[in-house]
Amino acid sequence: MTPDEKKKAVADAALAYVESGWVIGVGTGSTANHFIDGLAKIKGKLDGAVASSVATAERLKKHSIPVLDLNATGDLPLYVDGADESTKHLHLIKGGGGALTREKIVAAASKKFVCIADDAKLVDVLGKFPLPVEVIPMARSLVARRIVELGGQPVLREGFKTDNGNIILDVHGLSILNPPELEAKLDHLAGVVTNGLFARRPADVLLLGTDQGVKTLT
Ligand code: 5RP
Repeated sequence: MTPDEKKKAVADAALAYVESGWVIGVGTGSTANHFIDGLAKIKGKLDGAVASSVATAERLKKHSIPVLDLNATGDLPLYVDGADESTKHLHLIKGGGGALTREKIVAAASKKFVCIADDAKLVDVLGKFPLPVEVIPMARSLVARRIVELGGQPVLREGFKTDNGNIILDVHGLSILNPPELEAKLDHLAGVVTNGLFARRPADVLLLGTDQGVKTLT
């Protein structure tokens, strides 16, 4: 199976978590896009969706799935999204697509977070994938210096602005042995909006696409 076939398989498997009359949270990226395309086939079941990015909102709307404001929905029963890396403890790195802040907000508002990914994303230790950190533009150099003090090598994502008008520093060279601790440390730096570690609110379920089929980790 190709990585894309695995992504589609896990996206299709995630449809089974959707119940009638729900408003659900929907993530961002190529795996989430497969999920959105699958949702289109069962859209009669859904009352609507909360999007974790402008791109996701546009794709949902193209399928005539109502896009709702999180301020109007309250907590959500379900959030489905991809990841860049996951451990078997379901600690994640997200934000390869730059949507980490809204993704973390929707995940925080959701009772169940189902992460969908191909098996290349499963790692023993997070950090080979550069950790995205969303930063207020005026704090770029300050945050970069503090990240160097923490042992990382921050690289500005060139020509990229988040949906919130901020920049991303991709942090290379990390071997993240304690994800909840690093997540908290980075969040406490002045000028950091969010970092791409999802460890204090990890996924609840990981659907992993493998050559042997979809594996469920909890
Ligand atoms: C976007 C994300 C994505 O979930 C992550 O980058 C995985 O993307 P893909 O499904 O395209 O591999 O966090 O900000």
